[in-house]
Amino acid sequence: MKKRLFSGIQPSGEVHIGNYLGAIKNWISLLDDYDCIFSIVDYHAITVEYSPGVMQERIINAAATNIAAGLDTDRCIIFVQSQVPEHTELTWVLNTLTPMGILERMTQFKDKAQQNEKNINVGLFDYPVLQTADILLYKGQAVPVGEDQVQHIELSREIARKFNTRYGELFPEPQHILSNAPRIMGLDGKNKMSKSMNNYISLIEKPDAIWKKLSRAVTDENRKRRDDPGNPDICNVYTLHKYFSTDSELDRINKQCRSAEIGCVDCKKILSENMVKELEPIREKSLELINNPVSVMDTLNAGAEKCRKIAKETMSEVRSLMGLR
Ligand code: TYM
Repeated sequence: MKKRLFSGIQPSGEVHIGNYLGAIKNWISLLDDYDCIFSIVDYHAITVEYSPGVMQERIINAAATNIAAGLDTDRCIIFVQSQVPEHTELTWVLNTLTPMGILERMTQFKDKAQQNEKNINVGLFDYPVLQTADILLYKGQAVPVGEDQVQHIELSREIARKFNTRYGELFPEPQHILSNAPRIMGLDGKNKMSKSMNNYISLIEKPDAIWKKLSRAVTDENRKRRDDPGNPDICNVYTLHKYFSTDSELDRINKQCRSAEIGCVDCKKILSENMVKELEPIREKSLELINNPVSVMDTLNAGAEKCRKIAKETMSEVRSLMGLR
């Protein structure tokens, strides 16, 4: 029997290359080795302000982009979190095992509370417990994520252990899996690439938009003039090359940057071309799917149906162990 893998993505805008390199590419590479379930986590996305009118569009976009990137729906389940009510039901149970102090220490909560000063709601605080419920509901063992989610998965392990100790062995302790790009920096070169910082390139960016964004991306800030030698070791554009360019290109750019044979514009042009080569097929396939939302909805509905079955069984085991039934 294959181990169960679970991961999720918020429908909070366009899927960006941070999500792609940090998580989605890894999901795709693990499809055959695990029994995989992926969720579009809309209940997580409502913990910050959003427009209800665009939520469905965002869900379809997130699903379509993931499928277009290679999440082959014949080899995994993909579904929308709010279509399986047991996620919130298990969250309530796990809340009773989670000390407030641990949640107060969560880095993402502290960051998001700072960014959303006027809307520090209980959902934002409880976000990691809902994430734990997502994983435990399916007895997930492997959880491929970017580095920013590792603290949440550690918490999931603690909560699983606590449940097992108090009520009886039921949940495996989920282990995180990192990709070779666990933390992609944004085009500002300073912050993690994220939707909220608006420092990203999306997977469905048009070629000219990719170039426009890259042309403004921060490079080695010590390189003031074209003739100054650059230092690829501290250049985020060079780091991005590592994920889109060949080894020989990397080698050449590294040498030619250090000797000022090429400037940042030349270097960015090569990156832009290579990015377009990889992302254009994803963009085309995504648009095809987005223009046929019914087929995407069908896939998501079928996924939710399978998940509801598993979720029901787990909840019945939970209630039974807890003396609730
Ligand atoms: P979300 O939607 O913010 O991001 C989805 C995945 O992309 C990764 N990621 C990155 N990786 C590298 N560099 C970056 N700049 C970058 N930005 C995002 C994230 O680490 C994540 O793996 N809480 C989760 C969603 C979630 C979940 C779950 C994940 C809900 N329930 C259960 C795993 C298991 C989140 O906000 O992801």
